[in-house]
Amino acid sequence: MALIRADKYLADMGVGTRSEVKEYIKKGRVTVNDTVMKMADMKLDSDTDIVCFDGVPVSYMEYEYYMLNKPAGVVSATEDKRYATVLDLIAAKTRRDLFPVGRLDKDTQGLLLITNDGELAHELLSPKKHVDKLYYARIDGVVTQSHVEAFRAGLFVDETFRAMPANLTILSVNETERMSEIELTVREGKFHQVKRMFEACNMRVTFLKRLRMGALLLDTTLKPGEYRMLTKDEIQRLKECCH
Ligand code: URA
Repeated sequence: MALIRADKYLADMGVGTRSEVKEYIKKGRVTVNDTVMKMADMKLDSDTDIVCFDGVPVSYMEYEYYMLNKPAGVVSATEDKRYATVLDLIAAKTRRDLFPVGRLDKDTQGLLLITNDGELAHELLSPKKHVDKLYYARIDGVVTQSHVEAFRAGLFVDETFRAMPANLTILSVNETERMSEIELTVREGKFHQVKRMFEACNMRVTFLKRLRMGALLLDTTLKPGEYRMLTKDEIQRLKECCH
């Protein structure tokens, strides 16, 4: 059982700000179990109380979890003065405290988890947990077996950063156009990590897409910009993979 103040309950669920909600309560627009609510500081049981705003039931959701297939051109932030953010894409959101778990660069596409579960986010991003991230990339350059070995050994990215061993798979190489397609699994999440790893080999990433984070796989039916809620099973497996 979780007891929550009525004004917080309704504000968390996006009915209005705390002060707007207080006004709605004063005006008698909120009912609890068919009785008009009188006090904004009334404690509600989120499991059993039936709360309605203008007659429409508002059930409480403590956590929300969405997977977004991030398109290029939006930033991984909660707000931005210049660009659309990944949160702008989640039209169905209820909670106001959602945030993206980690960052993808503005031009990177693919799997991004959006939630308000701070504990899970912390676990997934903790450098100590080494949660696997799988990327697909197109590379301007010819990727060879010697790169695979260098990545596996722990690549020296620059004087201050040696990457942890990473699993590089060559999907295709076009020697005439000097282009390669690869998949790469990294166990850390440094700034521009994948791009910097290839730059250290004098190559450029021309397209980057994240396919997996820990136990969470990008749903291939989601087009860029589309999202869906995680299933209970996905949430469970994600929590287990970083414990
Ligand atoms: N590595 C990068 O270089 N960019 C990303 O967006 C993610 C990983």
